[in-house]
Amino acid sequence: MAGACYTILAMAANHHLLCLLLLLLLSLASHARDTITRRKPLIGNETLVSAGTGSFVFGFFTPTGSPHETYLGVWYARVTPRTVVWVLADASLDGSVEQNAQAELCVDCYDYDLLMTPPNTEMLWHLQAPGVAQRATLLDNGNLVLYDEDDKVVWQGFDHPSGSLLPGMRVGLAASGNNLSLPAWTSPSNSTPSTISLVMNTSGVPELFIWNGSTKVWRSGPWDGDQFAAILDNATSFSYVHGEREISYVFQVRNSSALSRLVLNSSDDGSGLLQRWTWSEADGKWGLDWFVPNKDDQCDTVSRCGPNSVCNSSSSQLPLCSCLPGFTPQSPAAWEQRDWRDGCGRKTPLDCVNGTDGFAVVRRAKAPDTGSAAVDYAASFEQCRQRCLRNCSCTAYASVNASGCITWTGGLTDLSVYPDSRQDLYVRVAAAWRLWNEGNGLDIVDNNLNGSFNTDEVLKCIKVGLLCVQESPEDRPHMSQVLQMLASPETSALHNLKQPGFAPRRDAEDMLPSKPDCSVADSMTTTLIEGR
Ligand SMILES: *[C@@H]1O[C@H](CO)[C@@H](O)[C@H](O)[C@H]1NC(C)=O
Ligand SMILES: *[C@@H]1O[C@H](CO)[C@@H](O)[C@H](O)[C@H]1NC(C)=O
Ligand SMILES: *[C@@H]1O[C@H](CO)[C@@H](O)[C@H](O)[C@H]1NC(C)=O
Ligand SMILES: *[C@@H]1O[C@H](CO)[C@@H](O)[C@H](O)[C@H]1NC(C)=O
Ligand SMILES: *[C@@H]1O[C@H](CO)[C@@H](O)[C@H](O)[C@H]1NC(C)=O
Ligand SMILES: *[C@@H]1O[C@H](CO)[C@@H](O)[C@H](O)[C@H]1NC(C)=O
Ligand SMILES: *[C@@H]1O[C@H](CO)[C@@H](O)[C@H](O)[C@H]1NC(C)=O
Ligand SMILES: *[C@@H]1O[C@H](CO)[C@@H](O)[C@H](O)[C@H]1NC(C)=O
Ligand SMILES: *[C@@H]1O[C@H](CO)[C@@H](O)[C@H](O)[C@H]1NC(C)=O
Ligand SMILES: *[C@@H]1O[C@H](CO)[C@@H](O)[C@H](O)[C@H]1NC(C)=O
Ligand SMILES: *[C@@H]1O[C@H](CO)[C@@H](O)[C@H](O)[C@H]1NC(C)=O
Ligand SMILES: *[C@@H]1O[C@H](CO)[C@@H](O)[C@H](O)[C@H]1NC(C)=O
Repeated sequence: MAGACYTILAMAANHHLLCLLLLLLLSLASHARDTITRRKPLIGNETLVSAGTGSFVFGFFTPTGSPHETYLGVWYARVTPRTVVWVLADASLDGSVEQNAQAELCVDCYDYDLLMTPPNTEMLWHLQAPGVAQRATLLDNGNLVLYDEDDKVVWQGFDHPSGSLLPGMRVGLAASGNNLSLPAWTSPSNSTPSTISLVMNTSGVPELFIWNGSTKVWRSGPWDGDQFAAILDNATSFSYVHGEREISYVFQVRNSSALSRLVLNSSDDGSGLLQRWTWSEADGKWGLDWFVPNKDDQCDTVSRCGPNSVCNSSSSQLPLCSCLPGFTPQSPAAWEQRDWRDGCGRKTPLDCVNGTDGFAVVRRAKAPDTGSAAVDYAASFEQCRQRCLRNCSCTAYASVNASGCITWTGGLTDLSVYPDSRQDLYVRVAAAWRLWNEGNGLDIVDNNLNGSFNTDEVLKCIKVGLLCVQESPEDRPHMSQVLQMLASPETSALHNLKQPGFAPRRDAEDMLPSKPDCSVADSMTTTLIEGR
């Protein structure tokens, strides 16, 4: 067009005013457009601006730290300095934008859907999607989309995350069949993928992981229907899509007018690898709102505590790691020295034959690594429990996606607790005695009681129940003593319990009253009679 104009200029110099006007109109039009077509490629320093709010710009640019290169990418229209959020894979030219003033990006040219060519050289970068693209349009969410003549999506930038997730971007298995992960850039000025990436393992229980090469650096925990235990960022919301063709998490921000993005940052200087930044208009800069892994939270590091232990960083007094109820350190000396790597082992094997196993609850958990877990989204909570009890290899269960069921087999690794998690983990343990010994008596109380009981009463019931199954008959109380104990608020007489001689022939819960008020006499008398 400009060429044509110069011709006109040469032919009729007195028309130069008209020509300038034409040029001006052309340049205005080119600055406002959001689409590349076959007839209107993107050339040199031209840009696309998204229609609607005009929030995003797409075009050639020279990265701040690499003045001798030209990239093609998407950045925010109203943020200075330029913040690039997406780069067209492998699309870089030698030299700055000025030096590549004639570089061109065309659609549907030379049999390619998208083709980038520097001036006077061979084809440099191209894309061939499964379909014939007619146009490339920059959408107002920052997505560059190729459409065919029927306006069907042929290819889209959101299927190829690079460094950042904008709201609406996803990781996991997309409906397009693409397995999406988010690679971190090598450096702020080099969009080449680094060894660090955010990946969703879509087999089994879907979870998010940050990998550094082949090292697992961080784990989100499974989806509890509402959140991830390890993504406690109240301004972020993920939507979870789990269909036949798609299993993915879509990043969303609760305040849709805020400019906010997730960045996977390869330089972890203490402010985490996965970061959420929000633009502050008032300050004229990006603010770091949230990040993981959190160096201040030692439990954020994968498998800090070894198998069958709980990582709890919310108390500075207590040791970071503790064995699960019914478990004891594998290497007591090392454990004492705060070397938690060997984790814990069971004090007593599970009892599949007599069916006396029960469950200990770990509340506010980030559920263990789901590598060895099975998931059933249709199973109810009660079915989940029964399934775990019946299967000798089941070691724990939890709900997933609010109602479904996860069951674990083998050792429980990378289990931690977070004050704001809403996930409860039910760990299979040998019998009530073991629980009591751990000082976790309350955890065997049927979950259905829901805390709507008198804690002291229930504890007392458990203690008395345990007394009734003491090995030696003389350790067992008489009926009258039992009634007295249950009636009095005093529980000190119940100390120094010994290991019960036999495990009760039922679920741990069966020893407990089914009513919150500990309708004592009946159930306890029964136990007593059986016990003596
Ligand atoms: C685009 O490039 C032309 C010449 O190559 C230059 O005159 C113009 O100022 C540039 N525009 C912008 C916005 O940089
Ligand atoms: C997607 O890729 C990740 C990591 O490369 C892998 O763990 C996962 O199994 C893949 N999912 C599918 C459906 O191929
Ligand atoms: C990733 O792994 C490499 C090689 O082990 C290491 O040098 C680098 O510090 C790691 N990066 C992070 C952010 O952990
Ligand atoms: C998010 O949490 C922070 C601190 O935990 C709190 O100050 C803020 O009000 C919360 N915001 C929302 C939208 O809930
Ligand atoms: C939402 O974001 C906009 C733009 O940053 C900001 O002005 C507004 O205060 C935010 N609203 C809330 C409820 O945080
Ligand atoms: C990576 O993190 C550092 C430190 O928090 C920050 O200065 C830098 O801007 C981040 N990089 C990106 C691309 O956000
Ligand atoms: C974690 O530590 C906090 C603070 O000491 C405590 O209240 C909580 O019960 C602990 N949780 C577990 C599962 O140990
Ligand atoms: C099952 O009960 C029988 C007798 O009641 C006992 O001898 C056996 O040790 C129990 N098995 C386990 C694994 O606890
Ligand atoms: C993904 O999950 C499956 C099943 O849960 C597990 O077997 C596999 O090892 C996991 N892959 C990675 C790379 O962690
Ligand atoms: C997860 O829960 C949501 C809301 O209850 C439901 O629509 C969805 O189908 C569930 N996902 C699976 C895989 O069952
Ligand atoms: C027990 O669970 C394991 C692992 O989930 C499974 O492979 C096995 O089939 C189950 N056994 C029974 C009897 O259901
Ligand atoms: C337990 O509490 C939850 C929520 O706090 C409630 O929905 C449920 O009905 C309660 N169950 C019982 C048995 O009280």
